[in-house]
Amino acid sequence: MDWRRVLEEIRVGRVGVEASMLASRYGYRSYMVERYLRILGYNETIKLLESFEKPVKPAIRCNHLRIDCEKLVDRLENLGFKLERISWSIHGYRVVEEPPSPTIGSTHEYLKGYYYVYRDAAPLIPPLLMVEPGEHEEIFDACAAPGGKATHLAQLMDDQGLVIANDIALYRLAALISHVVRMGFRSIVVTWNDLRLLPNRVKKRFTKILVDAPCSAEGTIMIDKSRKTKTTQEDLARIVAREIELLDAGIKLLDEGGIVVYVTCSIAPEENEYVVSKVIEMNDNVVVIKPRKRLFDWDHGLDAYNGMEFHWSVRNCIRIWPHKHGMIGMTICVIEKTKK
Ligand SMILES: C[S@@+](CC[C@H](N)C(=O)[O-])C[C@H]1O[C@@H](n2cnc3c(N)ncnc32)[C@H](O)[C@@H]1O
Repeated sequence: MDWRRVLEEIRVGRVGVEASMLASRYGYRSYMVERYLRILGYNETIKLLESFEKPVKPAIRCNHLRIDCEKLVDRLENLGFKLERISWSIHGYRVVEEPPSPTIGSTHEYLKGYYYVYRDAAPLIPPLLMVEPGEHEEIFDACAAPGGKATHLAQLMDDQGLVIANDIALYRLAALISHVVRMGFRSIVVTWNDLRLLPNRVKKRFTKILVDAPCSAEGTIMIDKSRKTKTTQEDLARIVAREIELLDAGIKLLDEGGIVVYVTCSIAPEENEYVVSKVIEMNDNVVVIKPRKRLFDWDHGLDAYNGMEFHWSVRNCIRIWPHKHGMIGMTICVIEKTKK
């Protein structure tokens, strides 16, 4: 996909005075604020920008296959951590208070593989939409490193299913392998491939695929303030062009009746509704479906933005907004290849 063509379609042209003033007050590229204003209006844009100024709490996923989760909570609370159950996640806890030491990623309990650490709770959502606890399935995690979602999927399947965890970056696969070994999973197979090349290289097709795409990470500004200015519109077009290629490859690896779950930690419609609409145009019999459960009161996808009309089904995508849901920004679309 040629990124220059993408740029022509997604470019935010005129930036208004309001956007320029807010961009300079909060330290953003003005096209980003112009985009927030067009989607959310003034008052909600202020709420979003303010929420990006506030830190988010880390979360952990208790590895119930290694330790009783109540015992883990007791042990961490004895070390000075305060944990809160995440109501919509069976093994997830928010770390609401931390002692000066150890850090949540350096306890004996962590090293023994009793839990996985996330910078925020939102990454717990996609695996919960893919398998019910106790189901035993085969899942292809196409962009898997460092393994938060791959190990979560394996855990939900009681380590009795099969997760093929693939990534293009060898150094990131090393981190994934260390989590797999630390947490003791035996149902994860690790592969090293460029997802974009796989549809032509392998005959195998899958019924469940996760494409957790490398994105602008615009939803994580509260964790990394450099994201306010890092991505130019040209950079964004290059990222979007790669996302289209990756999702298209994911769709091509799918069996009829199967699903691809497409995830970005970005709230940009260019990286989500636009990418998904393009890939739907490029493939027959593909549509975004409603996730099989609703974990909490999340938002739906956008129908249109910046003169672009999106495919009717992208309304079924899930949007997590920092100012509404108290988490990093994330977009999740469950895409089904329907039977002919
Ligand atoms: C958002 S991260 C994935 C996070 C991971 N799913 C998790 O939950 O820990 C995106 C990953 O995509 C990988 N990636 C980028 N281009 C790729 C490609 N062409 N094929 C496969 N993986 C790719 C990156 O190396 C990176 O590890």
